[in-house]
Amino acid sequence: MGYENIQVEKRGRVGLVTLHRPKALNALNSALIAELNTALAQFEGDDKIGCVVLTGSEKAFAAGADVKEMSTLSFVEAYKTDFITSWDQVSRFRKPIIAAVAGYALGGGCELAMMCDFILAADNARFGQPEITLGVMPGAGGSQRLTRFVGKSKAMEMCLTGRMMDAAEAERSGLVSRVLPVDELVDEALRVAEKIADFSMPIVMMTKESVNRAYETTLAEGVRFERRMFHSMFATEDQQEGMTAFVEKRAPQFKNR
Ligand code: HXC
Repeated sequence: MGYENIQVEKRGRVGLVTLHRPKALNALNSALIAELNTALAQFEGDDKIGCVVLTGSEKAFAAGADVKEMSTLSFVEAYKTDFITSWDQVSRFRKPIIAAVAGYALGGGCELAMMCDFILAADNARFGQPEITLGVMPGAGGSQRLTRFVGKSKAMEMCLTGRMMDAAEAERSGLVSRVLPVDELVDEALRVAEKIADFSMPIVMMTKESVNRAYETTLAEGVRFERRMFHSMFATEDQQEGMTAFVEKRAPQFKNR
């Protein structure tokens, strides 16, 4: 399929999606989100893809939802169409998805990055929830996910003032897992994604599901869920292969990649 607002590539077992609306700093309009959902659905159904990297340009991951498109939206329209609900597909993607963020990740851009499983940031990355300056608030999970990532004080300050965080602050506060030089960001993200894609896919997916459970339930329930998942792994040939390979001092050959 020809995409207009994103670029989609396969790099071995890794799917690479690049947001591509350079004239609008990758502002997220409904056409872009629809294309992103289509690309992700294809990667989800593609057995040869084990991990996805989502990135933007060096100047902007995404400068937010498209304000020009949103500016004429009425309450009734927003309510009737459940505006933003289509964005949720990223957070429901079952394979690992890494956000590689350079430049601006603002508003919906920051929210989109936070829907991914983890964020690798370039040293020029800037994160923020500036919606308050537009007379609104975060609407794609920002008030909830940012608070879980960085804690109440910082999230509240960012949402109430629109202040941006640089990459160092984002790493310090747990929003991103690592900071890299901007010209190494995508290559490193692809390397990390390839590493993940080389493991057993069902085990990777169950691991992702278990970590995400920590955000949805109590500690006791989360630990119980983890244990049941862990037990079920002993029904897979990849568990047998992984442990046998360790004992035999050789590299594992996972079947379900
Ligand atoms: C539409 C946008 C845009 C946006 C930038 N552009 N951000 N268009 N929606 N969110 C467009 C500009 O209008 C301009 O196009 C072009 O991109 C370049 O932007 P400049 O402002 O000229 O660039 P610069 O001076 O470098 O400033 C960069 C910037 C600034 C600081 C990132 O663009 C900015 O403040 N953007 C808005 C950020 C923001 O408020 N985001 C939150 C959106 S609300 P033209 O054609 O005009 O020259 C949101 C709500 C989410 O995300 C809730 C649920 C989805």
